[in-house]
Amino acid sequence: MTDQRAVEIIRNHSPDAEVRVGLVLGSGLGGLADQVDGVSIDYADLPGFPRAGVSGHSPKLVIGRLQGVPVAVLGGREHFYEHGRADAMRVPLETLQALGAGQLILTNACGSFRADIPPGALMLLSDHLNYAGLSPLIGEGTDRRFVNMTEAYDREMRADLVRHAEALGIPLPEGVYAWWPGPMFETPAEIRALKVLGADAVGMSTVPEVILARFLGLRVAAISVVTNMAAGLGNEHISHAHTKASAPVGAAKLEKILRAWLSGLPGAG
Ligand code: HPA
Repeated sequence: MTDQRAVEIIRNHSPDAEVRVGLVLGSGLGGLADQVDGVSIDYADLPGFPRAGVSGHSPKLVIGRLQGVPVAVLGGREHFYEHGRADAMRVPLETLQALGAGQLILTNACGSFRADIPPGALMLLSDHLNYAGLSPLIGEGTDRRFVNMTEAYDREMRADLVRHAEALGIPLPEGVYAWWPGPMFETPAEIRALKVLGADAVGMSTVPEVILARFLGLRVAAISVVTNMAAGLGNEHISHAHTKASAPVGAAKLEKILRAWLSGLPGAG
């Protein structure tokens, strides 16, 4: 059951709020929330929205227009590692859908396995590996829980994002993202194992949200900002401080692609 309380509070703040696209911003990527022309509501005022918070996130929902498109931007997310619940983002995503969102773009910071996708680069998720082995749909009592994940990452959204990235001269290679439950980073042996399994990058988020989005019938795409080579593959010291400091390098490119993609949507202003 959707928790309608957040929807009602948002409607009180912004009675005509309409949303077409939802955006979830990852660690160090929250800057876009401040660029939306609209209403900002702290998560603390929205029942069911992320609570504790992780540094580097901006815990607010902003509803308004970006490139003329009605958007809802979630300035931060809640992760499995904060409390052991994989369905932490269910209410926020249900809320976006209740406000009218049909498409969702998720962003995150990740560690790369590929020398040709180095720190500072972006990667478009073509698929994922649910290495954590967890689901946000445990306990869902309806047959809707049997979500088809064959083409979870929307083909048309991906093609459009790649087209806009090309036009901007920004490389946007596709790759497979592995969900690591965290909060500790991986060992080099774990990274070698994930590589054998077919992953190109690793991170601690996004996958449960993709599962929820497909459950809700939202079309979804996801873009990673590479903040480091994964454990054992590079020389930098992997840490959350490093993630937060490095994310803005890729974030500038990510924002350009997202703005261009929004401008290209039918009816964009
Ligand atoms: N591993 C997991 N999550 C991450 C990493 C990483 O190397 N970098 C940024 N988020």
